[in-house]
Formats: sequence, C-alpha cells, structure tokens
Amino acid sequence: MSSDAARDLDAWIPRLIQVWRERRAARSGGNRSGGRNRPFVDDGPADRLTPPEVKEVGAGIKRLSHGLTRQRELAGAKYMDDPQLLGAYLLFYWPVSYAQSRSLFSELPARPRSLLDLGSGPGPLAFAGIDAGARETIAADRSKPALELARQLAIAASESLGTREWSPERPLPEGTFDVISMGHVVNELYDGDVGRRAALLEQVLTRVKPGGSLVVMEPALRDTSRALLAVRDVLVAKGYAVRAPCLFRGSCPALVKPSDWCHAERPWRMPTLTEALARAAGLHKESLKMSYLVLAPKGEAWAEPPQGRVFRIVSEALEGKGRQRYMGCGPEGRVGLALQDKHRTEGNARFFHLQRGEVVRLGGATEEKGDGVGLTDATTVELVARAGQALPKP
Ligand SMILES: C[S@@+](CC[C@H](N)C(=O)[O-])C[C@H]1O[C@@H](n2cnc3c(N)ncnc32)[C@H](O)[C@@H]1O
Repeated sequence: MSSDAARDLDAWIPRLIQVWRERRAARSGGNRSGGRNRPFVDDGPADRLTPPEVKEVGAGIKRLSHGLTRQRELAGAKYMDDPQLLGAYLLFYWPVSYAQSRSLFSELPARPRSLLDLGSGPGPLAFAGIDAGARETIAADRSKPALELARQLAIAASESLGTREWSPERPLPEGTFDVISMGHVVNELYDGDVGRRAALLEQVLTRVKPGGSLVVMEPALRDTSRALLAVRDVLVAKGYAVRAPCLFRGSCPALVKPSDWCHAERPWRMPTLTEALARAAGLHKESLKMSYLVLAPKGEAWAEPPQGRVFRIVSEALEGKGRQRYMGCGPEGRVGLALQDKHRTEGNARFFHLQRGEVVRLGGATEEKGDGVGLTDATTVELVARAGQALPKP
C-alpha cells in the first residue's frame, strides 16, 4: 500500500468512529446526529475506541467473521441490516477493504474518473476510488442502512457520493463508468452458480467505458477464490481479456488441482484501530489478502505481456533444503521456479526476496525440469513490476 493511501486511510479512521458513535447514540435514543457541520460526538477519543467500545465491536466482528468464513451462513444474508454487524463491518472490515482496493486501483492502466461500486456496503471501495481520483462516484447496495452510513461518511469527509439501491435482479444504475468495482459481493450471489455470476459480470461489463475496467475483489479463501477463477474461465472462454492479475490467456491452471487456488497478498500499515479490534476478535490482519480480477469490456484485447520470459509470483516463498522456490504464472502457464543457494549470483539474487504478486523476467539459461523451471548461475532475474503496480508496456 502506498504511503499516500496509508495517509488517506489514517484520515478515515476518526470519521468511521464518529459516524459509528453517532449511529449508536441515535439508536439508544440520544440526539447526537446533527446537520452537515455537526461536531464529533463527545464520548471518547476521536481516533480510537475506548476499551468497552472495543469489547462491544469485537463481539460483532466475531459473529461476522464466523458467519462469513466458517459455515458461511451469513453469506447472502442481510447482515448489513443488523446494527451490531454493520457497526463491526464499518470499524473493522471497512479499512481492510479500503486498503485492498486502493492497492488494486493502483494497478489499473488509468486513473478512474467515474466509478460505480456495486455491493458497496458502507462504501470502502467507493471512497478508495474517490481518494484515487474518481470525481463521479456511485455506491450501490441492497442494504439501506449501509447506504445511509456511506452518505454519513461522505458528509463527514466533505466528499460527493451518489447512492442507489441495487440488487442483481434490478436494473443497474444508469450510465457508463471508467471503473465498476464489486468488493466481496460476488461470492454472496446466486448460491455459487458460476454461470449466473458470469452472466452478471457480462451485464456489468456493458457499462464499463472503452479502456475502463471491472474490478472484482473476493475473500482469499480457497473456495471463494476458486469460484472466482471459475467465473474468470467462463468469461475468458467467451473472449474477455483479463487486465490483472493473469498473464496466462488460457483456462486458469490453478483450477487443475482441487487443492490449489490463487490469491494476492499485500503489505500495509495496519491502523491502530484495526490492530485493537483484531486482537479483541482473535483475528489476524497483518497483511491484506484477497483474490481479484480486473476485466476489460467486450472486444478489447489482452495487453501484450512485457517482453521476455515473465512470470507473476503467485505463492509465498516455498523454502526448501538449500533452495528457494515459488510458483510463477506467466504466458506459458503456472510453473514452479527454483534456485539453489549455491547458484546465487549478483544477477539472480533478487530471486531470494520476491513477494507474491511481483512480476519478474528471467533471462539467460534455465534448466527445464518436469516439475518446473530451474534457475542456474547463468539465469538473470529482473523485477518488472511490484505487486499493485501496472505492468509496463512492452
Ligand atoms: C461483504 S460486504 C462487502 C462490502 C464492500 N463492497 C467491501 O468490499 O467491503 C457484501 C455486500 O454485498 C451486499 N449484497 C449481498 N447480496 C446482495 C444482493 N443480492 N444485492 C445487492 N447487494 C448485495 C451486502 O448488502 C453487502 O453490503
């Protein structure tokens, strides 16, 4: 996450807390929500929660986290209409989604001017888009309370945000957009039906302007990630181009073995609020993990990959005895890449410090093995793009 994005996120924390306290006070009969210039509610520090507040929100986060990750009984349910769960979402998941999407928006070929955020909840992606330069932004969701929160946040930040009630069976908000984002929502739709999800994304893509992108972000769980890859395959088979993260144009090789999946991981400066709430709920958010797909509108070609033999690193470092290994995925497919310590040279030393999501170019000689590519002391390793950075034009 860039330092600009981290600074922008820091500025959101007091607004999230302010809006949460106002809603809570209003629910308990207090009269604390006022007009556009209302003051901060005076019952705690502006940039952090009091210990009883942490306990209260932590309980909501536990409910939400269990319901969205274990049995997933909340996926598809109207949990945003439950004040405790909406509050937990706002204070814990909102900053995570904001940071995740900032790091995806920085990978787009162009800054979005107009953005439609579908399944917006209280708008973390919509506001990430605004902070990334979008001037006309609409947040759309079926949950009225979530949209109301998004409007309150817009007022607190003096930003302009349109909101619309939307669900897949209703028409899309009017207009065309540079970017349409769908954050952590596709996995909640149609009970896992890949065909219907792909059809929805196709419909949404008709509203993306030429050169624009549909950004779909999903939880980095094995099942939700694989489901996204299956939707990707349907769309790729129909001729749609993937702008990121894929360099491979065929069916996703991560779907071949049922135990594989593909997700991104990005470092971030975790806000103190997130740290306190993660501790209270027994969760870990030291890094940002998500699965994502950036799709081009119909008829647009895949971008030419950077020249040479390039791979995106799609695993963490898989250290073995005396060697470093990663999974790479490039125009030739998904392969293991390995380099023995004894073959380390100045030209390939970068290989020992690669991060998931980075794109590298291999030069010089390699050894082709049954289970992947062996790098040697004659191989060079060059960083082509950092994770979260657009690929350079060839
Ligand atoms: C996990 S939240 C994601 C919120 C936000 N986009 C983010 O990434 O943090 C999923 C959102 O999808 C919305 N959602 C779920 N099913 C929906 C449906 N059928 N129609 C419209 N919105 C839906 C929920 O109301 C909720 O706001």
